[in-house]
Amino acid sequence: MVWEAEKPIRVAIAGVGNCCSAFIQGLAYYRTFGADGPGLMNVEIGGYQVTDIVPVAAFDVDARKVGLDLSQAIFSDPNIAYRYPDVEVPSCGVTVQMGPAMDGVSPDLTEFVTLADRQAVDVTQVLRDSGADMLLNFLPTGSARAARCYADAAIKEARIGFINGMPELIVCDPVYQQTAIEHGVPLIGDDVKSQLGGTAIHRALLQLLRARGIHVTRTYQLNYAGNTDFYNLIHRGQSKHKTKREALEMLIPPDADISTGFSYIDLMGDRKTAIFYIDGSNYGNAPLHFEAKLEVEDSSNFGGVMVEMIRYMKLGLDRGVAGVLQSASAVLTKHPPMPVDDDAVAIQHLKEFTAGQRER
Ligand SMILES: NC(=O)c1ccc[n+]([C@@H]2O[C@H](COP(=O)([O-])OP(=O)(O)OC[C@H]3O[C@@H](n4cnc5c(N)ncnc54)[C@H](O)[C@@H]3O)[C@@H](O)[C@H]2O)c1
Repeated sequence: MVWEAEKPIRVAIAGVGNCCSAFIQGLAYYRTFGADGPGLMNVEIGGYQVTDIVPVAAFDVDARKVGLDLSQAIFSDPNIAYRYPDVEVPSCGVTVQMGPAMDGVSPDLTEFVTLADRQAVDVTQVLRDSGADMLLNFLPTGSARAARCYADAAIKEARIGFINGMPELIVCDPVYQQTAIEHGVPLIGDDVKSQLGGTAIHRALLQLLRARGIHVTRTYQLNYAGNTDFYNLIHRGQSKHKTKREALEMLIPPDADISTGFSYIDLMGDRKTAIFYIDGSNYGNAPLHFEAKLEVEDSSNFGGVMVEMIRYMKLGLDRGVAGVLQSASAVLTKHPPMPVDDDAVAIQHLKEFTAGQRER
């Protein structure tokens, strides 16, 4: 472990793409400018600060990343995440290892990813040797088999925490939940709900409309960006449509129409735009129309949530909690196993978990 920390939280990462880049650059940012800098949902969680998070292992399959130190691999093509000004990412002392490719790189994704001609390492052994407390899954959407391969290595073999940042339904799978309990492993998932992203904003709007008595009749959310993730979503985004849609469906009347869409616009790079459209009726069935637009650095929006999840996961590990950390999953993911339709209630549950008044 090269990065020093008072109370280290050791993380292993599967998928050194744009989200990983923003996440690691953010860690370097707070190491440089102070752990109480802007952009954090919480400066401290259960005594842990962002600067306690230390990468100890990383896996990818792209020839331009495997074999490099993580601090260099995050800037290798095709990554284009926002480059934080005035932040030098120090060497992590972590060499990116060749993971099992499986279905991580679909035929369409070969446009972006150059598959390395190397033998995959033994993921479980690397996790054990690294002393990782948890594995973070940042694989491309649609990597059903590869994601489960990493989940198995973490949960069943290395027996470390597992955070599922992508929309494959692993933490929502009752079989994985039971396996995690039997192996003494905590889980958070599925699919990161970005810090201020489409899902968080759309949910807040729908909750406001519901509280004000507005009957929503139809709504859509259109997202576009020019990063690898969006290119991939166009070709195999079914699981993302599901996690996004189900996060919203619980907040609208059953007869309302809803749609979620993605577009890839290469010149937008990692800058994501989300457009929200809502039709409804208010007093006396009078029509109401609402539109809004968000522009945000897509991958940084992920990093801010990951540093929360990691610290809640560490609290779960410290307390010996096994199985799904329900309150962290409900607040921080798009598709938790036990969704809570009122975000204020979900946040209250998470506060109680942090204070040790709620087991999970
Ligand atoms: N705001 C956000 O950007 C956001 C929010 C929520 C969820 N997510 C999800 O996070 C995931 C990662 O997003 P991203 O933008 O970093 O994607 P990305 O395509 O930039 O990165 C994915 C990385 O995984 C690597 N990879 C592919 N197969 C692999 C394998 N078998 N083993 C190891 N590495 C492999 C690729 O080479 C690439 O480096 C996606 O599933 C995305 O949907 C992103």
